[in-house]
Amino acid sequence: MPKNFETVSHENRSFEPPKVFAKEARIGSEAAYQELYQRSIADPEGFWAEAAQDLHWFKRWDSVLDSTEAPFYKWFDGAQTNICYNCLDRHLENGLGDRVALHWEGEPGDQISLSFSDLHAEVSRFANVLKKLGIGKGDRVAVYLPMIPELVISLLACARIGAVHSVIFGGFSADSIRDRVLDSKTKMVITADGGFRRGKILELKKIVDEGVAVCDCVQNVLVIKRGGEFDIDCPMTKGRDLWYEDLVDEVDATCPAEPMEAEDLLFLLYTSGTTGKPKGIMHTTAGYQVFTYLTSKYVFDLKPDDVYWCTADVGWITGHSYIVYGILQNGVTQVMYEGAPDFPNQGRFWEIIERYKVTTFYTAPTAIRAFMKWGDDWLAEKDLSSLRLLGTVGEPINPEAWMWYHAKVGAERCPIVDTWWQTETGGHMLTPMPGATATKPGCATVPFFGIEPDVLTEDGESVEAGILAIKQPWPGMLRGIYSDPQRFKETYWCKWGGKYYFPGDGARKDEDGYYWILGRVDDVVNVSGHRIGTAELESVFVEHTDVAESAVIGIPHEIKGQGLIAFVTVIDGREFDDKLRQELVAMIDKSIGKFARPERIVFSHDLPKTRSGKIMRRLLRDIAEGRELGNTTTLADPGVVKNLQVQFEK
Ligand code: PRX
Repeated sequence: MPKNFETVSHENRSFEPPKVFAKEARIGSEAAYQELYQRSIADPEGFWAEAAQDLHWFKRWDSVLDSTEAPFYKWFDGAQTNICYNCLDRHLENGLGDRVALHWEGEPGDQISLSFSDLHAEVSRFANVLKKLGIGKGDRVAVYLPMIPELVISLLACARIGAVHSVIFGGFSADSIRDRVLDSKTKMVITADGGFRRGKILELKKIVDEGVAVCDCVQNVLVIKRGGEFDIDCPMTKGRDLWYEDLVDEVDATCPAEPMEAEDLLFLLYTSGTTGKPKGIMHTTAGYQVFTYLTSKYVFDLKPDDVYWCTADVGWITGHSYIVYGILQNGVTQVMYEGAPDFPNQGRFWEIIERYKVTTFYTAPTAIRAFMKWGDDWLAEKDLSSLRLLGTVGEPINPEAWMWYHAKVGAERCPIVDTWWQTETGGHMLTPMPGATATKPGCATVPFFGIEPDVLTEDGESVEAGILAIKQPWPGMLRGIYSDPQRFKETYWCKWGGKYYFPGDGARKDEDGYYWILGRVDDVVNVSGHRIGTAELESVFVEHTDVAESAVIGIPHEIKGQGLIAFVTVIDGREFDDKLRQELVAMIDKSIGKFARPERIVFSHDLPKTRSGKIMRRLLRDIAEGRELGNTTTLADPGVVKNLQVQFEK
């Protein structure tokens, strides 16, 4: 098979699913996975129709997949359903009302537990408040909240009455709120007086005020009190702003779920993309419902006794699909935590796992690398024996970070699901089946049922390393970019004659047919004619026991075309010096070859990251080339780039 990109990985460790886990798993062997996978590809419509039967439908579909207007695919056309009904009412009907749906813990330590019945009542009340304020089917509602139960409740309330939610992550600025509100012509903004992050109060309502000052479309701002004994200053604009607690007592807890058409818009979620204005990614009702339900069930191997915890914020797609919709549809108990992983100390996450006896833990590589940096002592005294499954999402996980997660958190007995997917895909696309797939550190492994990936050249030739393509539509796929169908086509269907979905990632397929994500196609470097994904290079540095994190970029080079600059962060308590620098160069020489020696290794205390934890290599390129910095509004900590600039100029 020809190569398009070059692979420099030398990772060849492999871990069979633990026998004890596989014995009880929903998909307990490679043969079982293969059988169901082959069926799902040979007859996708039959497969998805069968999966949909577990759920409640007011009216059955006429067709499972309608491709007549591709790439504007339709799933379950003709059906009527309500995803909130499937998250709540269905469980009450099945006698599960008393099961805890949500164990919530605030950063200061306050705790609330809500059963499925409690959540059903809260959601119904919230929905009635929305209706009372004139919100109905199709109206856009922006949600700008901290990680409090009302975040989940407000989303479900919107879904219950057919309003379209557009969550804006609580760390975004006033300008980001304004852009998103204007783009979707939002009628209402739901926010809170404030929330907690690293011991500080974030005054969200004040940011909303600034953001919506020029937004005439906003009729009301509905404000929730964060609660507890905290007094948060919260100016209210008469006639526009309303306290939720003043309205909720006037409504009752009965609100029937609205039958929604299969392709009715369920939510918008804006993603920044690399350039330009954020894209309002559209997800619709029925396909998203079935896809998040089924991926949650199989990828997390959900069982009635599970206590699931996903550490993402509901402001990201991970929170939408795998805190709210996928997990609740499966009727499983989960933990939700408001605050930072290092408050009041760096052991907070392990304490939470111990306290709630978490069985299933889903987090991001950036968090795992932070845990490694903070040292193993934080875990040592904690009882993590309740854990049975670990997951990761958001970035390629460096093999050494994977090994640390496997050994220190999973005690070598928990399978790890490295799930590759995107805001646009709605749910898991490449992932191990925890009871069936032998895992490899750093590898997202195999496709989920009904997903047909390939690795192609620009010309559509199948290669070992190149551009990832998805060759068949799937129910959770985005249906468009809000009010911009042209951009939807140009961004995702621009290659291969518009036949296949283009996710924008580089990938490699190994001899076992496993997929390795090499990073964004935009980040690929080309050194002396070798096109290499940044993920593999970075993983070599992270193999050094003193290195916590690394980012590699390419800069123009007269002879090589591109030369490499490596940014490296060391673990707490270690110094960086020339000896370490030499050791890192030696590792590159040995693992990849002298051609991949970086022009410079820059040590840094931190790396510039988006608020969802992704390294922003684009800014590192700006720093390295002495350019004015591009858009920095999505940076989690703007101070980091200033330090790096100083460090770089040394
Ligand atoms: O580059 C891939 C990376 O994150 C991108 C999608 O980002 P976003 O829409 O913010 O969604 C993140 C949560 C689903 C992808 O195009 N990515 C995500 N998961 C992985 C990953 N890269 C490698 N391995 C993963 N498991």
